[in-house]
Amino acid sequence: MSTETTKERESDPNRDVPPDAAVAADEPKPYRKNASPEKGKTIIDMSAVTKTFFRGKEPLTVLDGLSLAIEEGAFEALMGPSGSGKSTLLNLIAGLDRPTSGKATVAGHDIGAMSDGELAKFRARHIGFIFQSYNLMPVLTARENVELPLLLTKLSGAERKKRAETALRVTGLENRMDHYPRQLSGGQEQRVAIARAIVHDPTILVCDEPTGDLDRKSADDILELLTKLNVDFKKTILMVTHDPAAAERATVTRHLNKGKLE
Ligand SMILES: Nc1ncnc2c1ncn2[C@@H]1O[C@H](COP(=O)(O)OP(=O)(O)OP(=O)(O)O)[C@@H](O)[C@H]1O
Ligand SMILES: [Mg+2]
Repeated sequence: MSTETTKERESDPNRDVPPDAAVAADEPKPYRKNASPEKGKTIIDMSAVTKTFFRGKEPLTVLDGLSLAIEEGAFEALMGPSGSGKSTLLNLIAGLDRPTSGKATVAGHDIGAMSDGELAKFRARHIGFIFQSYNLMPVLTARENVELPLLLTKLSGAERKKRAETALRVTGLENRMDHYPRQLSGGQEQRVAIARAIVHDPTILVCDEPTGDLDRKSADDILELLTKLNVDFKKTILMVTHDPAAAERATVTRHLNKGKLE
């Protein structure tokens, strides 16, 4: 059973250097600010999904027949004890891994049925991944870090720069574009990482403890930014968090325990 906190509200992974950037943004449209999610349309649909890892011959079932439907435009939080399978679930939704059995459909794509190349395209089109650790390249400026996912696209240098700057403006870093990560606070580094996650205008933002390393004030600022990306830019957001105050920002909070949603 999922716990719904009913706050009424209206209502496309960047790993370090995404290898899938080669196929990112073939037909780029900068920030579909006015794109309206279709109300009631399911964008993430998991049905009886299991995920089993093997340690040697020893199977470890991490997700155990999990079903889940998330509507386009939602901002959902996912909580649960350490080891309950939260990151495993995010990785499936982000197309970084495939289910062992069951069906996971994300933005109309059957994750289990796609080849590695198709998954890369899927991620480049639909997924922005935000981690607890910012994974910025220390030798690159904020702008260059954000440009990274676009480097292997056909976009011109000028267009890449423009998009990186747009993304940095959206995240409130217009005055920090030429700063190196070491010259930024943790909250600002996370904003750069968020800019990098949205620079290819993904449909879905998948966040794995995005405020885990931040103090309360910086965490609240990041949560405010995620809310803006959800409300103004219509991004569907799924956020894993251990922080009840962070989960409060979401419209729905789900609890995962021992591979099942409670
Ligand atoms: N690639 C893998 N190979 C083997 N075991 C794995 C793999 N990925 C995850 N696991 C195991 O699956 C279980 C769930 O891991 P997962 O990272 O999803 O937990 P989590 O809920 O995100 O925990 P935390 O809150 O600590 O981040 C753990 O026991 C972990 O060791
Ligand atoms: Mg985790």
